[in-house]
This record gives sequence, structure tokens and C-alpha cells, in this order.
Amino acid sequence: MTKSKSVYVCSECGYEAAKWFGKCPGCGEWNTMSEQLRESQPSVSAARRTAASGRMPSEVKRLDEIDTRDDPRYQTGMSELDRVLGGGIVKGSLMLLGGAPGIGKSTLLLQICEYLGKSMNILYVSGEESGRQLKLRAVRLGVSSDRLLVLTETDCESVIESIRQTKPDIVIIDSIQTMCLRELSSSPGSVVQVRECANALMYIAKGLDIPMFLVGHINKDGNIAGPKVLEHIVDAVLYFEGDRNLSYRILRAAKNRFGSTNEIGVFEMITNGLRQVENPSEMLLSGRPVNVSGTCVACVMEGSRPILAEVQGLAAPSSFNNPMRMSTGFDSHRVPLLLAVMEKRAGYYFSRIDAYINVVGGLRLDEPAADLPVVLALVSSLKDIAVAEDIVAFGEVGLAGELRAVSNAEARVREAARLGLGRCILPHQNLKSITGKIDGIELIGVRTVKEAVAALGG
Ligand code: TYD
Ligand code: MG
Repeated sequence: MTKSKSVYVCSECGYEAAKWFGKCPGCGEWNTMSEQLRESQPSVSAARRTAASGRMPSEVKRLDEIDTRDDPRYQTGMSELDRVLGGGIVKGSLMLLGGAPGIGKSTLLLQICEYLGKSMNILYVSGEESGRQLKLRAVRLGVSSDRLLVLTETDCESVIESIRQTKPDIVIIDSIQTMCLRELSSSPGSVVQVRECANALMYIAKGLDIPMFLVGHINKDGNIAGPKVLEHIVDAVLYFEGDRNLSYRILRAAKNRFGSTNEIGVFEMITNGLRQVENPSEMLLSGRPVNVSGTCVACVMEGSRPILAEVQGLAAPSSFNNPMRMSTGFDSHRVPLLLAVMEKRAGYYFSRIDAYINVVGGLRLDEPAADLPVVLALVSSLKDIAVAEDIVAFGEVGLAGELRAVSNAEARVREAARLGLGRCILPHQNLKSITGKIDGIELIGVRTVKEAVAALGG
């Protein structure tokens, strides 16, 4: 019997099967299997052979024999990026930078070359842009380091060979989806190619102790092609996000072996590249409408940093049997729950009302402390009473309509005071956790949703 020429591969986990499945038997995801040509060689060995040729076998060591002393972190000159990486680039680490096309991945990585180039030799491998395009962009970004080497190549083996020869201190691969191993018959960007190229590059990065950035494009579902396989291989996964129509960009870590995944970095795209935003609250609150109903300032923690953001709510009479519930930047499962609490515990009826939530600036508030500002924005819109512009709110709403304490209350209040907000509505229980004196802000402790709405006045 002749073997079939094609094989079905899951884009999530790389599971291979001879026939198509609606649900991948490997990872259980739906509609992820796609047809590919069968490889003539078992694919894993291809990358191994390529990268591991000439590599010495590892020794067994006792934990206390492993030397970590000279493990410095390289600063990138962008403190926002360093923060997300957990304090800088770790030697020999493999970092994946994912994001939608045009979000600014290449811009960010080219921009850090100027600072890195002061002390390190950089190899920038571009599989997407020509040398000329790259140069034009570098000029525009003010990058002129003479320690920046550029290679325009998509053949993974040649890239590895160039890394061996030039022995750079850091490598940037833009992008992993354009790299291909000639031994594999599938096209660049397919799961097998992406996985094998990433594997091959990992061997060389770890073998020579060179930190390496991989740029990865995101497919329409917001996943990097073959994300699960890549996430296992790399040490850190950073996502670069943002609304294409807005100039802010948010960098967040989805995985980090050398730091926390809570930190975010905020950037703004301007005419000559990305600018770090060290004061995101100010930026997020600028241009906020005043004296209109349906908006409330929230204070949420992004990692170790409190950030103020504007939450907008719109409550409008519904023309559907099932009223609309939509939210951007806030957990959509939590919206019906909060609406039910408002109906049952505070007497605000939303059963014939469409409710929309929007967090301005592309920020995602996935912290319970965002409940109260969401509730206040919706009630404000429903009753058409404006929330005064000097009010900020945070607090978790419980099913009994009670307000529950949240963490880091003092840091949140300080941030609000720093930005000149005059009143803070917060869970009553949080009052006792604020021990220091904070000037210029009045604290309004509330026990229930009803009390919180009453505190708005109006
Ligand atoms: P780019 O870094 O090429 O995106 P990616 O590598 O993630 O695909 O970003 C390109 C976008 O950024 C493009 O739409 C134009 C914009 N941009 C600026 O606004 N200013 C600049 O200085 C640069 C270099 C790009
Ligand atoms: Mg690019």
C-alpha cells in the first residue's frame, strides 16, 4: 500500500494525523487541523541535525555547582521593555515577540539596537524587508550603530551558519514565520516549519549563550501560528497589542521564565518610532469627556504599577428580545453578572436595556477592582447622571451587592491623588488598609453598590 502524501497537522499543538479531525485529538481544540505535505524525514530530527552538529553532550552537575554569578541582564535602553522582561535581557534566553502585522514589532526591535549597539554586536536577520528598507527605517528611527549587522535571509541553515561565524552578542529574527529549513517540504509559516526553525534557533542560542528575539506574527484568532509549540520552546513570550487606530501600544508578557507576567509596558507610535510612556495614566485620561454621563475613572493594578483608565458605559433602550451585552477591555462574562447584581440588589433595571462597556485606550481590565467603575459607568448612563470628573473608583462587587476589599488600595489612591483626582470611592474595608496620609484626595468608603451610587451625588 502506498503511503498517503499528505498529513493533517494541528496548528495549536502540532499533532499529526493521517485523517482530518474536527477536534484535535492532541489538544482538544476545534478546527485547527490543516492538510500538509508529508515530510520525507521525521521532522524533529531535521532541526536537531542542523543545529546540534558540533555540539558537545551536556554534563551532569550538582545544583550548587551551576554558576549563576556572571548572569547579568542587558538593559535595552527602553525601561518599559526591560520591566516586561523582568529587568532586562537574560543571557542565552529566547524571547518571542508576537503581535498583529503593522503593530510595531520590527520598529521596537530596531529601535533598541541603538542602545544595545553601544556595548554589543547585534545580528538583525530580516526575512521580510530588504536591506534598503531596513536602512531607511533605521535612519528614520535614528539608529546608526556600527555594531549592527544586517542579514536578509530566510534560509534557517544559512542564518545559523552566519550566527556561528559572526558570533554576535544578540540576535533578532524578524520573523520566525519567514524562516524555512530546506529539508522540510512544507512552506514557510506552516506549523512544522515554524516549530523546527524555532527549535534549530533555540539550540544555537542556548549552545552559544546568545540571547535571541524571535518576531512572530499573529493569525486572525490572535494566536501566533503554532503558538503552543513555540511557547514551550521559548523562555519568554511577549505580546505587542493595541488598537490600530490609536497610537498607544501595550506590551505584555504571557510567559516569562525570568520575571513576572503581570507587568505591562506602554508605548506610543509617533512619526519617528515608538516612544515609551512612563506615565500611562495621564495619557489614558487625556481627552476624557467631562460632564457627560456614562464614564468613570477606574484605578487598576497592572503588575506592580497602578494605572488609571477611563471606563465608558452605555445603557440604551433595546430593540431586541434579548438585549445586547457587549464589552471591550472588560470580561464579557462578568457584565451580565454585574447587571444582575444591580437589578436585584440596587434596583437598577437593565432587562430591556442594551449595555455596552468600553475601556478607553485598548487597556484590558481583568482585575476584580474594575467592577465598581463598570457599575458606576452603567448606572450613570442609565440614569443620565454624570460622574464628577474628579471621582475615581475601584472595588470588587460581590453577588450580594456588597463591595469587597481589593489589594494595593494605598498605591491606587496615591496614583489618583498624583493625577489630581479629588475623590475616591472605594470599599469601606479598604479604608483601614490605608495607613499613610495622602493629601488632596477625599476617601469615600462604601459598603454596597447602592451606597456607591449614592456617593456620586447628582
Ligand atoms: P512595524 O514595526 O513594521 O510593524 P510589524 O513589524 O509589527 O509588522 O510597524 C509599522 C507601522 O508603524 C506602520 O504602520 C507605520 C508605523 N510607524 C510609524 O508610525 N512611525 C515610525 O517611525 C515607524 C518606523 C513606523
Ligand atoms: Mg515587521
